[in-house]
Amino acid sequence: MIYAVILAGGSGERMGNVDKPKQYLLLNGKPIIIHTIEKFYINPRFERIIVLCPKNWIIHTKNLIMKYLPDYDRVDVIEGGSTRNETIMNAINYIEDIYVLDEDTIIVTHDSVRPFVTYRIIEENIDSAIKYGACDTVITASDTIVESADGNVISSIPDRKKMYQGQTPQSFKAMKLRKAFNSLTFEEKEVLTDAAKILVTKGESVHLVNGEVFNTKITYSYDLEVAEALIRRENNAERSI
Ligand code: CTP
Repeated sequence: MIYAVILAGGSGERMGNVDKPKQYLLLNGKPIIIHTIEKFYINPRFERIIVLCPKNWIIHTKNLIMKYLPDYDRVDVIEGGSTRNETIMNAINYIEDIYVLDEDTIIVTHDSVRPFVTYRIIEENIDSAIKYGACDTVITASDTIVESADGNVISSIPDRKKMYQGQTPQSFKAMKLRKAFNSLTFEEKEVLTDAAKILVTKGESVHLVNGEVFNTKITYSYDLEVAEALIRRENNAERSI
């Protein structure tokens, strides 16, 4: 079975002075989280779409889904965790408790604040996770990446051709990811903010899926302005067909 796991458990601190987590802010008149869920909802390969959000926002999220989606049947809304990885673990545990978790269970995990993910990216994530067990969506780095160990001087400048920027979705065989996560030390769990890195740390292969430059994450208020411009561009393109 294949599950979409929409990560909305964060509070959006870097967004600044807003009264709600950024995933509930409006983008072209509709909450960002709904734009994102819709991208998964239209893909029939997902058995369920599991949305994880802060406890206080569960009822609001359910109401939004009922308002904007044609039906609520394939969507579950549950509580996220204290870290992004804990949120993913909550999804896996939920699948085990309520549905069926086995070696072939695939989760396609995606940031709720990346509303521009495409059908193609999602399809390639599913296929890659089935074939290889784990994949990460990336784009080639456009800027040179400069590494500094102390924040003052450069320690290295890696070859840009080998550098990529990580996006989401990140997709996994769920049991394999949970097993690797559970084998981490407390300290490793504290520093590992990226789900793909859990497997990389354990020496497992994580395959690459090509993302898109426009599959950006809304982190700062500037990103929301850019996202509004992207939506306008999409709408204009649709009108001119
Ligand atoms: N996320 C999550 N559970 C957490 C933390 C984050 O599901 N405990 C989700 C966020 O809701 C977001 C995605 O992971 O959709 C990417 O994280 P980020 O952009 O860092 O979101 P926030 O943690 O909300 O932002 P900030 O770091 O600015 O507080």
